[in-house]
Amino acid sequence: MDAATFRQYAHEVVNMMADYLQNIEQYPVKAQVKPGKILAQLPPNAPMQPENMAQILADFTQIIMPGITHWQHPKFFAYFPANSSYPSLLAEMLTATLAAQCMLWDTSPAAAELEERMLDWLKQLTGLPQSWHGVIYDGASTATLSALLMARERHTHFTTNANGLHQAPQFRVYTSAEAHSSVEKAAKMAGIGQKNVVKIPTDEQFRLNPIALQAAIQSDLEQQLTPLCVVATLGTTGCTAIDSLPDITPICNKFNLWLHVDAAYAGTVLLLPDYRWMIQGIEQADSYVFNPHKWMFTNFDCSAFYVKDKQTLLQTFTVLPEYLKTQWQNGVNNYADWGPQLGRRFRALKLWFVLRSYGAQQLQNTVRHHLTLARQLAQEMQQTPWIEILAPVTLNLICFRAVPPQLAGNQTALNNFNATFMANLNQTGKLYLSHTKLRGNYSLRMVTGQTRLTERHLTEAWQQIQETYAHTLAELA
Ligand SMILES: Cc1ncc(COP(=O)(O)O)c(C=O)c1O
Repeated sequence: MDAATFRQYAHEVVNMMADYLQNIEQYPVKAQVKPGKILAQLPPNAPMQPENMAQILADFTQIIMPGITHWQHPKFFAYFPANSSYPSLLAEMLTATLAAQCMLWDTSPAAAELEERMLDWLKQLTGLPQSWHGVIYDGASTATLSALLMARERHTHFTTNANGLHQAPQFRVYTSAEAHSSVEKAAKMAGIGQKNVVKIPTDEQFRLNPIALQAAIQSDLEQQLTPLCVVATLGTTGCTAIDSLPDITPICNKFNLWLHVDAAYAGTVLLLPDYRWMIQGIEQADSYVFNPHKWMFTNFDCSAFYVKDKQTLLQTFTVLPEYLKTQWQNGVNNYADWGPQLGRRFRALKLWFVLRSYGAQQLQNTVRHHLTLARQLAQEMQQTPWIEILAPVTLNLICFRAVPPQLAGNQTALNNFNATFMANLNQTGKLYLSHTKLRGNYSLRMVTGQTRLTERHLTEAWQQIQETYAHTLAELA
């Protein structure tokens, strides 16, 4: 492809992008295809001859688009959002154009220095300790892995890094029963072992129970096991429970444990000063992660990982072969030394575009609007006799189930009914919800955090929920 053809198709693609986002409500939110449908339309062998871009774009529309779930649809209420926004998209276009590999300061000084500044801005905007150091990762799972590796290395004085795990003690990692599965995955990858992740029971609000935490640590010590780390969650995946840092930090201090705080989704709410009670005591933690790619209008992937002690981070990860040496080893950030990845995308650019284009106040207003919408809908649901809200609505996630009177008290029947109810809802294509189980109860999860969400969308979604309930109930009869 030459520059002139690129220019022509680039304009066409930008038009496709703008049309898509402007007309996104025409699409079913959740892809309505069966497994194998897309694969069957893709030739088994790669083309030997060049193909025409017009044909490739036509195939994108005909083959790929029907198999896309529309995460930017305002009625995408499932999981946690993976938000985007126009400014973020503009930056991504430039990032893809530069295609810079930002492993070292030397390989793109502007990328390294912008990353440093953006993490400072995020720190200020969300009230994190000013002395902490931040780096952008692909996701919170990688941040949690890094935290466990740093905890392991601090504990073994970096001898595990040097010698491997054969002399390491049996480490234990504590996290709530509601914590994200990435904690277990990180324990598997860090050589700690999945079975050494101790799931601490939660209280009535699904928060980690600190008394049970202390008891678990003491019991492990009696069995000659080695407590290493606590992972606290601000905004659990199931129901956005907020673990209490003021209750957890004294325990970590007492037993000299690493404290990693996972605020992957909820970290964005700290843009609002009145939510900073959530991070009371954060200065006592060792590491912290939140994902602007979830709720902060910055498209995937962009996860902000902060550590208190930069030296431990660097010593955990740095390996310096000859071919990566530059004249700038000190006084600059070589971010390849700050985590598992060597090659790194220029992710800071989209943060810069988003933070400048929105401005802190508009970010705050949008986040507050999402919180208000959730509160309003939850109130409406609370007044609806056949709906039960299964967890406190701490932020903008509502966990609920339908309770037809004839099934009340029968957990298995209610679980089956609600699974069908949700499948029926998602099959309409008008909205998309996901689920979890809370204390064994099948719970629908509805997150009001989409970039383009307005009151109208929520009103329509609520209408759809009521209609689909009536029709699912009729199927039951
Ligand atoms: C609380 C929490 N932690 C970690 C993760 C994993 O995030 P990522 O996909 O960025 O690895 C999630 C994902 O939803 C989450 O909700």
